Amino acid sequence: MLHVNGLTKSFGFGSDKLQVLKGIDLELKKGELVALMGPSGCGKSTLLNIIGGLLPGDGGEIDLNGRKYGKKGPSSVVDVRRELVGWIFQDFHLLNNLSAVDNVAMALELSGVSSNEAEKRAANALEKVGLGDRMHHIPDQLSGGQQQRVAIARAIAGNRPLLLADEPTGNLDIASGKDVLQLFKDLCHDKDDPISILMVTHDPELAANADRMLLLRDGKTEASDIRSAWGLDEEAGEEE
Ligand SMILES: Nc1ncnc2c1ncn2[C@@H]1O[C@H](COP(=O)(O)OP(=O)(O)O)[C@@H](O)[C@H]1O
Ligand SMILES: [Mg+2]
Repeated sequence: MLHVNGLTKSFGFGSDKLQVLKGIDLELKKGELVALMGPSGCGKSTLLNIIGGLLPGDGGEIDLNGRKYGKKGPSSVVDVRRELVGWIFQDFHLLNNLSAVDNVAMALELSGVSSNEAEKRAANALEKVGLGDRMHHIPDQLSGGQQQRVAIARAIAGNRPLLLADEPTGNLDIASGKDVLQLFKDLCHDKDDPISILMVTHDPELAANADRMLLLRDGKTEASDIRSAWGLDEEAGEEE
């Protein structure tokens, strides 16, 4: 469902030019949860931003469910942001004064859904993430893990086929982080309505529990396992 081919991106000019992405090739299938790892500053967020239609690439192509872009600026990919991609951030980005259900419903209303319909869909999404009994709580009345699940409900309520999660467990304790990963797996492996998730994480244990791991290194992505993510791939021993 997602194909990225030869994607390049640099920042700055002349001697200040920083070539961050040097020809990224990656693919995500429907129903796949893929973890993206790599050292700080290697371009993970940049890659997500381009896939999510927030930033144009310099070269290469992205094909998301048949929609082709990659070098197009944000104003040319409004549909990608509205219909194809949902976001989950490290710091949740919830509105503090709105209840869980209103946080989710508001995002739908902004994309043109009527208030009644938005509230129904928001309630469904919150049920799906296990917060059916917390709909009318405001963020302050919820734990970090619950707040992140509200953000996940918001991201799935619009029925977008791809979720981009930039360090979604970075502000969570270990147990809540594991819960979020399990929820991601459930959403991707749903029999009736599977989605795909590309998740940046620094946690090798979470990454190892994804369907697949990619390592972003020197501006390119490579398939990875837990050993190479730790920099142990030079050591002896082939493993599956
Ligand atoms: N808008 C920008 N202007 C200039 N440099 C940027 C910009 N965005 C990111 N960078 C640089 O690109 C590199 C990759 O950043 P980023 O994608 O945020 O890395 P990561 O998410 O892997 O930590 C970093 O060196 C960062 O400083
Ligand atoms: Mg980042």
